[in-house]
Amino acid sequence: MPFAHITGWGMYVPEPILTNDDISKLVDTNDEWIRDRTGIRERHIAREHEFPSTLGVEAAVRALQIANLAPTELDLIICTSSSPEYIFPATACIIQDQIGATKAGAFDIQAACTGFIFATNMAAQAIRSGSIKSALVVGTEVLSRFVNWKDRNTCILFGDGAGAFVLQASDIPGGVMSTVMHSDGSGADSLAILAGGSRYPASELTIHEGKHFIEMDGKEVFRFATRVMGRAVLEALEKVNMTTNDVQWIVPHQANYRIIETAAKYLKMPLDKFVINVDRYGNTSTASIPIATVEAIQKGQIKPSDKIAFVGFGGGLTWGAMVVEWTGPIPAKKHVHPEQYRRFARLRSFLRRVIRFIEGVFSRREL
Ligand code: ACO
Repeated sequence: MPFAHITGWGMYVPEPILTNDDISKLVDTNDEWIRDRTGIRERHIAREHEFPSTLGVEAAVRALQIANLAPTELDLIICTSSSPEYIFPATACIIQDQIGATKAGAFDIQAACTGFIFATNMAAQAIRSGSIKSALVVGTEVLSRFVNWKDRNTCILFGDGAGAFVLQASDIPGGVMSTVMHSDGSGADSLAILAGGSRYPASELTIHEGKHFIEMDGKEVFRFATRVMGRAVLEALEKVNMTTNDVQWIVPHQANYRIIETAAKYLKMPLDKFVINVDRYGNTSTASIPIATVEAIQKGQIKPSDKIAFVGFGGGLTWGAMVVEWTGPIPAKKHVHPEQYRRFARLRSFLRRVIRFIEGVFSRREL
């Protein structure tokens, strides 16, 4: 059975930064309260012309560059987002088109902030089964569009950004070792964007009632997160007969510094084994784990052969953990340039639209 190695990683955040002081001009809050209760100092906010696919494509191309893998080699793209571009088509398909992943199947997974762990597990399982050789997993968010900038309970928390992993098959042991995935729909109303789906289709009333914004029972989510995070890590470690002594790094979902602190206490691990960057990005939902991972690699913290536990929680409710032996890029004979496929992808996309238009004209004549 092949092993599923993480061979590429990339992140992208939009340039504009919104500080706590900026938010204090919008709602009754202040920098001290936000830093004290959440650990967040600032977050990045997408510009008007930036969408989940825009950020996701940047992160994906960077991950492919590290993996030295041409987009045309990808078999599968899974995108996970709590702020997808549309209900359908899947954001994954837009990314597939824009990076030029001509043979990849592409779809989205919705598991709120736990999405990246669930999606990476799905990709790893497809590789382990032997049905595919390579996959791209993208977590991408423009949550700022769903934030009620008049609600101080939520608007302080979220930020925009994207992260991506490339997974590849190899006979060498390592890569994704174990995963646990959990959900509890009885807590569905603790954290939700209620309108825009088929239960509350967009209407004047849904807009008037603010049902298109993130609604959250902060205390309930906090309690839930602190209950499940540590336990999920232990479960994933137990599956491969490991303990917390065997892991070099925990990369948690970056929602709140205090939640991470509580998980560290539960696991009896020092906080400096946790990768934490919530202070500079806020909660970027599905993108937070890959963004934190990429930064830890860039800082020289995570190294090949390190054992790492990813752990996440979020709306659904969902939570999960994954244990990985870190690999790094597979040595390759030739150098590929994934970024160059974008120009070709734009042209290909345009030509396919033209062909579809011409086919449409002829088929109308035939009818
Ligand atoms: N600035 C100043 N005061 C505030 C603010 C603010 N931004 N927000 C709330 N307060 C006030 C409250 O009104 C309350 O005042 P009161 O005592 O007079 O009623 C007081 O501060 C304490 O409020 P709490 O809600 O108890 O504050 P808490 O310490 O619980 O922190 C927070 C709130 C930060 C939201 C916390 O509960 C939390 O982080 N929860 C988890 C949220 C989370 O992680 N969500 C994302 C999940 S992942 C996903 O799927 C998207």
